Amino acid sequence: MSTAENETIEEAPVTNRKQPFPRGFLDTISTGWAERPESLPAARPQAAYAAARRDAVSAAFPGKRLVIEAGSFKQRSNDTDYPFRAHSAFAHLTGWAIDSEPDSVLVFEPAESGHDVTLYFRERADRTTTEFYADATIGEFWIGPRPSLAGVAADLAVATDHLEAFSAADDDVTLADDELARFVSELRLIKDEYEIDEMRRAVEITARGFDDIIAALPDATRHARGERVVEGVFHRRAREDGNGEGYDTIAASGPHACYLHWTRNDGTVLPGDLILVDAGVEADSLYTADVTRTLPVNGTFSDVQRRVYETVLEAADAAFAAARPGVRFREVHEAAMAVIAKRTAEWGLLPVTAEEALDADAGGQHRRYMVHGTSHHLGIDVHDCAQARREMYYDGVLEAGMVFTIEPGLYFQIDDLTVPEEFRGIGVRIEDDILMTADGPVNLSADIPRTADEIEAWIARGSQG
Ligand code: GLY
Ligand code: MN
Ligand code: MN
Repeated sequence: MSTAENETIEEAPVTNRKQPFPRGFLDTISTGWAERPESLPAARPQAAYAAARRDAVSAAFPGKRLVIEAGSFKQRSNDTDYPFRAHSAFAHLTGWAIDSEPDSVLVFEPAESGHDVTLYFRERADRTTTEFYADATIGEFWIGPRPSLAGVAADLAVATDHLEAFSAADDDVTLADDELARFVSELRLIKDEYEIDEMRRAVEITARGFDDIIAALPDATRHARGERVVEGVFHRRAREDGNGEGYDTIAASGPHACYLHWTRNDGTVLPGDLILVDAGVEADSLYTADVTRTLPVNGTFSDVQRRVYETVLEAADAAFAAARPGVRFREVHEAAMAVIAKRTAEWGLLPVTAEEALDADAGGQHRRYMVHGTSHHLGIDVHDCAQARREMYYDGVLEAGMVFTIEPGLYFQIDDLTVPEEFRGIGVRIEDDILMTADGPVNLSADIPRTADEIEAWIARGSQG
């Protein structure tokens, strides 16, 4: 849309850092722009899946007005925001992911039958407004093209309206309401076909990122902050082929591997040490992988490193073998912990027997060396479905369509006097992303080398080229 030649634009506010725009600018800035004819897109593939999810929400909350907010920009420092990422429930129920608009609201208005659903968002302003040229956060002159109401309605196959037409009411049910938060979280426990494809895509890109890390290991050993080299090459792959990472990459070399969420990544990468890399690419759809591999920096596991590694692998394989439809989620963890208890007892690390360590009340001595859980659901959030009830999650039963991690580890802190010196400073985690099917579990990340021999061969190949 263009304005009449003689119409002048309203003036942007003057600040302590800006000169007012001169008259000539204001008189001409809104004119001289070509029309923007819009051809409406076909609905994106996830639109039909999102519609089915909205139907489930509507059926669960008859007569209630539901308001699902995308969230807003969050400031990082002056004039600088964190990259916007929509709330996961909003993305799940709209199919609007990396390209969604901040401050959007999905509203379920009770209707005669079910709900009328409308997506409210801030439509792009036309060029007669100060927003267009003077608003650095949302103006198209600054951030690039923004979508129209009709374009988003066609793309997501949902009714749209301008954000100004939305008003909140006192009895709205929002994500701050436990019942709604729980429902939309539990709705994500079983992934549909679209989500499973996106999980596969996220894992595939992650696999390429790990190949890049292998190729960069020699460089990493030559850099004072080698862990940053590792983080950086993964980041490059994540940004080039996806939206980014689903969580901050952990590049933890040597004793840092024993800090479970080491994301400072400012250490050296030394030949002879292991480096634990926990990294996952988030696809443009916001589905994320979550994979850990522990690599010998010089390409070969020492005897003690291999012993620890193979125990963690044994625990991972035991967990995988325990996972099948109908089994409780916690049984997967228990299978891994049985191996950890058995081996740490055999190594003489425990003041009790493995059996005693596994006692639910008096045991847990082995947990000193693996304090975290073995599994969590995975999806749009790296720790997905977090508001699900315990009976649906930890005590819940595995079903086809669930995606979760298996990620046992062993961590012997550098100053842990309960372990022989040769163990100290060794941390190993092996994390894979598992899809449950009616026929049993599928390891989506199985193509990323995981046995000690495969890893040594992978590093040998990677350093050749
Ligand atoms: N990357 C965090 C986790 O594995 O759960
Ligand atoms: Mn994980
Ligand atoms: Mn992880």
